[in-house]
Amino acid sequence: MSVSIDLTGKVAIVTGAGSGIGRETSALLARAGASVVAADINLPAAKETVQAIEATGGTAMAAHVDVANVEHANAGVAATIERFGRVDILVNNAAAWTTALFKDLAYDDYIHDIHITLVGTMVMTRAVYDVMRSQQSGAVVNLISDSGRVGEAFLVSYGAAKAGVMGFTKGFAKEAGRYGIRCNAISPGTTKTPGAMGMINQWGGEEKLLKAYPLRRLGEPIDQANGILFLCSDLSSWVTGQILSVSGGYTMAD
Ligand SMILES: NC(=O)c1ccc[n+]([C@@H]2O[C@H](COP(=O)([O-])OP(=O)(O)OC[C@H]3O[C@@H](n4cnc5c(N)ncnc54)[C@H](O)[C@@H]3O)[C@@H](O)[C@H]2O)c1
Repeated sequence: MSVSIDLTGKVAIVTGAGSGIGRETSALLARAGASVVAADINLPAAKETVQAIEATGGTAMAAHVDVANVEHANAGVAATIERFGRVDILVNNAAAWTTALFKDLAYDDYIHDIHITLVGTMVMTRAVYDVMRSQQSGAVVNLISDSGRVGEAFLVSYGAAKAGVMGFTKGFAKEAGRYGIRCNAISPGTTKTPGAMGMINQWGGEEKLLKAYPLRRLGEPIDQANGILFLCSDLSSWVTGQILSVSGGYTMAD
């Protein structure tokens, strides 16, 4: 007997879909049968993700969305409805981080990190909320970070924003559950994406970092995509308001 995850007929919006975890997640959700809207502030990158999905027989469209911009968010959701008629899944994956010690961070740096990472997650979730409520169903998966749970120097404002996303995840889950909407978060450990390679090198390289990981390797984007797929599928239909750490055991605290 085998068990499979089938998202046929489901429509998913993935933000930050033009790179790393967002690109891999878009591809995996499409492989599971979902129609995917690859939303990114970088439209050419989102289009590349769509091309890769279509090349393997999947269904996808690109949307130019700055997640922290209410008009962009609403337009992205409207374009999704126009093309696919519904929204079942939102993956709030886009984020921004400034790597510097707090003493060196400018006010504009931390406003930027919080604006894209926390406010952007809230703006996108608000943009799909009415649609999901009218459907009486939906799954939202937010990307947080171990930096928001256990703290990381050099990622202070980003960590603060991700801790905010964690609070939003739980509060929204409590409000939205009555409408059949679930909301959970993935907390990735260091994962080898284009956006993270600079940090990995800054921290002394992969060999040095992986000693802190019980499973003795850093994450790959597919590790995160697999966790996200679980949280947006019916396999997790009685799971909401939870944080799943996909970090090779780097953090184990609740
Ligand atoms: N890679 C890691 O080690 C790691 C660790 C912890 C958490 N995360 C989280 O995982 C998520 C994805 O990270 P990644 O490493 O794949 O990043 P990445 O830099 O490879 O990709 C990020 C994507 O987001 C897009 N983006 C940036 N700002 C945007 C905006 N305002 N609106 C829409 N799109 C925007 C970028 O254009 C890019 O395509 C983020 O939420 C990040 O905080 C990653």
